[in-house]
Amino acid sequence: MTQLLVTGGAGFIGSNFVHYVIEQTDHHVTVLDKLTYAGNLASLSELPHSRVDFVHGDVADAGIVEKLVASADAVVHYAAETHNDNSLNDPQPFLHTNVVGTFTLLEAVRKYGVRYHHISTDEVYGDLELDDSGRFTEASPYNPSSPYSSTKAGSDLLVRAWMRSYGLQATISNCSNNYGPYQHVEKFIPRQITNVLRGTRPRLYGEGLNVRDWIHADDHSSAVLEILEKGRIGETYLIGADGEKDNKTVVELILTIMGLDADAYENVPDRTGHDLRYAIDATKLRDELGWRPRYPDFEQGLAATIEWYRDHESWWAPAKDATEAFYARLGQ
Ligand code: NAD
Ligand code: DAU
Repeated sequence: MTQLLVTGGAGFIGSNFVHYVIEQTDHHVTVLDKLTYAGNLASLSELPHSRVDFVHGDVADAGIVEKLVASADAVVHYAAETHNDNSLNDPQPFLHTNVVGTFTLLEAVRKYGVRYHHISTDEVYGDLELDDSGRFTEASPYNPSSPYSSTKAGSDLLVRAWMRSYGLQATISNCSNNYGPYQHVEKFIPRQITNVLRGTRPRLYGEGLNVRDWIHADDHSSAVLEILEKGRIGETYLIGADGEKDNKTVVELILTIMGLDADAYENVPDRTGHDLRYAIDATKLRDELGWRPRYPDFEQGLAATIEWYRDHESWWAPAKDATEAFYARLGQ
């Protein structure tokens, strides 16, 4: 049996990964999570205690991190500050968790010689023009735009340097926008779904022409497990499922699936420095590891996600008012 340490396992993608690992393998998982506003223990509550331990702590706390890494066979590092709008408002926690936290983990992994997988984002590559036929590949230059994406880019570069300088047994993955259950209501899709459930109109930044490349969280999890088990040490893999959609189309789909007029949304002021388009070319992951997405139909996945939020109001309601108060202050 493998002992996995999963940082940020009480967040959106981390908790989906823990569910996936418990269903698909016989590994034991220890979650290390600070339970910031984005962490929620309820996302793990249905999992068996015999397979999942929870440790409340900061990934930048070397004492806790060393102790946990020493008894792990592998570490998957999800913990991060993740919301672009928050990073524009207050970048400091992004530096602390994404840069210092990753550094702390890397030093522990180096000391104990533990296999490490680093979770990152396509945003490290900056953005593409709307009419560009190209997509990001593993060879794309780093060109991050926001405080969030620059700290993620910084953490990727630390991992690359630790691999080269210290021979760290590591891999990196950069994934596109995830959707699915357990995503915080600050993010685009859950915000609009829960607005509609509350009788409020969805909020579209600017004209809604920006494009995101959507992937179901379970497909992200299956790709990460594949890379952890079969990926080549020292390599970076891009994860994406050919899910490009502009934001206006996504809002219209949510409204239509929920039985409302497709134009029943508000246009609100745009995000500063708003990246235009992300798009992933996942050829390396597909060709080298044989990975395929199991949820390629975005509309079907979106409908299932809407049902999940309809059925889990007690999970999201506690965060909704504070989130909307934050957006109200920004005029968004
Ligand atoms: P999230 O904000 O939902 O969850 C982050 C989790 O990390 C929370 O549980 C939080 O409590 C925890 N955390 C924050 N600071 C911590 C600290 N100092 N110590 C320990 N735990 C801490 O984030 P998410 O959307 O699930 O993203 C997880 C990872 O995946 C991040 O590294 C992010 O960059 C990456 N990623 C996200 C997406 C996406 O679409 N959401 C896409 C690609 C990559
Ligand atoms: O690409 C991967 C990244 O995807 C991850 O690294 C980030 O952690 C994750 O938050 C996500 O970043 P985005 O900035 O793309 O996600 P967000 O959900 O904040 O916004 C998605 C798009 O929707 C973006 O173009 C902004 C727009 N938007 C967002 C909100 C919250 C709106 O139009 N209205 C909104 O209310």
